[in-house]
Amino acid sequence: MVASREIHLNSRPHGMPRKDNFRTITVEVPEPGPGEFLIRNVWMSVDPYMRGRMHDRESYIPPFQLNAPLEGGAVGEVLRSHHPDFKPGDMVLHMRGWREYALGDGSMVKLPPTGAPADLYLGLLGIPGLTAYFGLFDIAGLQKGETVFISGGAGAVGSVAIQLAKIHGCHVIASCGSDEKAHWLREETGADHVINYRTVDDLNAALRAAAPEGIDVYFDNVGGEHLEAALDCLKLNGRIAACGMISQYNDVGEGVGIRNLLMVVGKRLTIKGFIVSDYMHRREEALVPMMQWYHEGRLNSRSTVFEGIESAADAMIGLFEGTNTGKMLVNLCSHQQHGIEVEFI
Ligand SMILES: NC(=O)c1ccc[n+]([C@@H]2O[C@H](COP(=O)([O-])OP(=O)(O)OC[C@H]3O[C@@H](n4cnc5c(N)ncnc54)[C@H](OP(=O)(O)O)[C@@H]3O)[C@@H](O)[C@H]2O)c1
Repeated sequence: MVASREIHLNSRPHGMPRKDNFRTITVEVPEPGPGEFLIRNVWMSVDPYMRGRMHDRESYIPPFQLNAPLEGGAVGEVLRSHHPDFKPGDMVLHMRGWREYALGDGSMVKLPPTGAPADLYLGLLGIPGLTAYFGLFDIAGLQKGETVFISGGAGAVGSVAIQLAKIHGCHVIASCGSDEKAHWLREETGADHVINYRTVDDLNAALRAAAPEGIDVYFDNVGGEHLEAALDCLKLNGRIAACGMISQYNDVGEGVGIRNLLMVVGKRLTIKGFIVSDYMHRREEALVPMMQWYHEGRLNSRSTVFEGIESAADAMIGLFEGTNTGKMLVNLCSHQQHGIEVEFI
């Protein structure tokens, strides 16, 4: 038996999550049985979609249960194993995050020996990277030379999407919520034009000024006013990859509608939503070129790291306060090697 702390959903948030919506519990994890192995989690992913799972309602993924551990992507090290394919020291990618130790089974993914740091499999080489890739190229059908607007540009998905669009020979306009983030996007990701949406008076006007001839594609991570500005600026036959709408995840009541949706008709726009899990059978299509670009130094990664399971609720809340630049992670085992560029909280 090993003592393990895990985070439970204590109550369902109403609006912005609060720390008292979460509770830390210590449990005893039993020794692995036949076909099982014991994992010590090293990295835990914190993602916006988890906010949706805190509502008790039907969705594409079941809601979190009260007084039960939360779930989510994690990477951990195998400590003891009774499974022939997993041995001590192997690193595994799985969905039993929000806890320090977990029992594993053969359904989990052993990380390949690619030389990439393990935490990248929760960011650049994980769900965020795949989301950026398939959202841009499959959903929006981004073409070389096009102009694309990417909101949430300094986040996990957005920062990869910017770099992929630049590799693809596109003109990229990005938005983010601070001057420091804007500087990083310009200097490190190659974004051609960055809008700090918190400091501009008029987002529509700022986007128009950045793309006087209009945008071909909008990669939406934010929704709300960003979506309205994009609808206003899209060219005839423009396309929107509806990836997420984080500005609405904490809405209570009816929220706010999109006031210029009529633009879809006159401009013959296409809006297409997607969930990246539908693309898992095609992940190698994205990961093979992305791994190569990563090793060539053409794809970079950055993370914001909270230390220790006790900081997981703060990391979750931080997503909605813009605390993270790049991927939001919690490090559960600080002696492990970190990814390339990290900023500790
Ligand atoms: N469709 C899919 O399969 C799929 C998969 C993964 C993610 N997603 C979606 O992709 C989006 C980005 O996810 P991520 O994991 O990369 O998260 P992220 O962008 O790394 O983190 C969230 C960021 O959103 C911004 N934000 C928070 N509240 C905002 C608001 N009210 N208005 C504007 N920006 C706000 C903050 O940055 P600022 O400082 O810039 O405000 C924050 O850092 C989310 O909408 C998520 O739900 C979709």
